[in-house]
This record gives sequence, structure tokens and C-alpha cells, in this order.
Amino acid sequence: MGAEAHFHSAEDARRLARRRLPWMVFDYIDGAAGSEHGARRNRAALDAQTLRPRILCDVSERSLATTLFGKPAHRPFGIAPMGMCNLSGPGADLMLARLAARDHVPLGVSTVASTPMERLIEEAEGNAWFQLYFSGAGTGTFKLVDRAKAAGYQTLVLTVDVPEVGRRPRELRHGFKMPFRIGPRQFLDFALHPQWSLETLFGGKPQMANFEMEGYSFDRTESRAKADWSMLERLRDAWPGNLVVKGVLDVEDALALKAAGVDAIQVSSHGARQLESAPAPFLALQDIREAVGDAYPLFYDSSLRSGEDALKALLAGADFVFFGRILQFAIAAAKEPGLRKLWDVLSDEMSIAMAQTGLSDLKR
Ligand SMILES: Cc1cc2nc3c(=O)[nH]c(=O)nc-3n(C[C@H](O)[C@H](O)[C@H](O)COP(=O)(O)O)c2cc1C
Repeated sequence: MGAEAHFHSAEDARRLARRRLPWMVFDYIDGAAGSEHGARRNRAALDAQTLRPRILCDVSERSLATTLFGKPAHRPFGIAPMGMCNLSGPGADLMLARLAARDHVPLGVSTVASTPMERLIEEAEGNAWFQLYFSGAGTGTFKLVDRAKAAGYQTLVLTVDVPEVGRRPRELRHGFKMPFRIGPRQFLDFALHPQWSLETLFGGKPQMANFEMEGYSFDRTESRAKADWSMLERLRDAWPGNLVVKGVLDVEDALALKAAGVDAIQVSSHGARQLESAPAPFLALQDIREAVGDAYPLFYDSSLRSGEDALKALLAGADFVFFGRILQFAIAAAKEPGLRKLWDVLSDEMSIAMAQTGLSDLKR
């Protein structure tokens, strides 16, 4: 029996991951901007939201299935793009891709994924969206767009909430850098977490794999501040597929994106890793839904920790939602069986909450 048998919630997985991961890696994944008030603000908003219990509805047949850009998905939740996932364990990116393939849900493939985008879309059997960071003057960015097109991606997600990388003190305190700089502090950290260190040593050091190819370079801390509305226009012209803009929290911005021909908006605070003083995304979702109207596709991520949380976001106006860091914790805690276990836990939590609120399906 693996360690996954011992977890029954995302918090259980996080607790186990905290023991197994070097402090530097745990705090990189878990940390948020500033004093982390932004993270707490959104959690408070989600916790304050109740679901309405309903009785005596026949909810014996329930379905978590939905459609996304006209295609069936077995779950109303997918995998948020996360850079360097293999820090949570060797092969983490591929585990996430296999899950996406099994359940026909999108795998967010980060610009700074630890496996090349071509390999990930193949492993995900097409269920992958490429996440783009605009960087520097943008030349490399548009090269990546062409590459994503050539690899068969049909959906591009432009992340717009990182004009500069947020200051996350927990990350900074450990001297987190990619590639790692191993000083005495990091050496001690790795030595005290030998299982992770040995597996990572043998499994291959996590890399920013999309930049291993000649002609591509990336500096994680390079400014993305030059991105503006004219760049979006250029991107819209260059990308014939679905264009999603991720990291939107403002009604005025949402309306302008809709007018600019963007196919969907992802309301998100980047998991509270960017502007600490941003409004709670869970509340922004409701305002944005009201502004863009019922039919416009809206997605949501940030601070979701359970199937009930995800259901709250769907009922608050999201057509589809994404989980982020808890999936990495499940992998760190118990590898692929851990990921599958957490996914089942999230699915069960949602299905049970649907039964208790009189819902048989998620049709809006
Ligand atoms: C370790 C880590 C790395 C991330 N890397 C990226 C990234 O490369 N691109 C991106 O658009 N979002 C990135 N995100 C943000 C996620 O896509 C998502 O918005 C966030 O994790 C959702 O919040 P949650 O973790 O509380 O569920 C990252 C998040 C984490 C935790």
C-alpha cells in the first residue's frame, strides 16, 4: 500500500508533501506573494460561500461531465499550467499529461514546463493547452506560438498577470533559482530530504525544457512588462485557434478582452502569487460573469482545495475550473498513485456535494 492510502483530502497530501520535499521546493510551490494576505483573502471568500442544501431530489444518477470548446470533458476541472512541475518529483509533467488523456481534461503546459511541449501534447493525447508568457521584446514569444501551432495545440493561454514576477518571500529566503544554485543552505536542505534528492539526481534535474532547443532562451526573471493591447492584437492575428487570457480580475479588462475577440477569460490571481492586494478572485469571478453575460466562456482558478470549492466556483459563474499546486503536492506525497487518488477525492467530494444540493449534472 502506498502513501496515497493515507490521504483523504488535499490538506493530507500537502502535509505529506511538506515532509518529503526540500524546504526550498515546498515553499516555492506553496508560497504566495508578500505576507500572503491575498491568499488568505481568497480563502476567506471561498470559505464564507455556502452551498444550498436541497432535499428529496432524485440524485441517484449524477454526472461530472461537461463540454469545453465544444468537446466533451469527463470532469469540470482541469490542470492549471505550472512551471517546472518535475520539482515535485521526476516525471510529474508526464503523470499530469496521462491524467489529462484519461479524463479528457486540459493539461496546462507552461512556457517553463519541465518537459518539452511536443512530448506533453503527445502524452496527453491532444488534451493539452499551451500557456504563453510574453517575454522581453517578444521575438522568442512569437517563435513559441509558431512552435505550439506546429505541435498541434489548438488552445493558447496567454498569462497576463506577470508583468513582473511577484515577490514571494518564502521563495526568496531559500535563494530559489533555476537552475539551482547549491550553497551550504541548499546542500543541508537536500541532505535532510534524501529520498527526493536521490530520486531527482537519478531522474534528471528539472529543467525549463522548452528552452533546451537551439534558438530558444528564457530568463525566469526577465521582465514581461512590455506586453500591451497591441501585442494582444498581434497574437489574436497570429493564432487561429482558441485564445484564452489568464490572470484577469477586473471587470473593465474583461470587457475589453471580450471586445478584442478573445475566446475565453480565466479569472485567476495566479494562486495568490502575484499582487498581494488584488481582490479575491472568487468574488471577481461573480462580477465578471455579470458583466460579460451568460454565454461568454469563463474559467476560474486560484485557492481551490476541494471538490466543494470547485462546485462553488462553477455555481458562481465559471464554465470550467482548474486545480494548481495541490496536484503537485499529491505527486510529491505519493507519485502517480497519489495524483490519481487526489483526483478521485476531488471527484468524490464534488459528486457528494452535488447530491446534497440536489444537482444531477452541471449544465448551466
Ligand atoms: C509552482 C507553481 C508554478 C506556476 N507556474 C505557472 C506558469 O508557469 N504559468 C502560469 O500561467 N501559471 C503558473 N502558475 C499558476 C497556476 O497556473 C494557477 O493559476 C494557480 O496555481 C492556481 O492556484 P492554486 O495553486 O491555489 O490552485 C503556477 C503556480 C504554481 C503553484
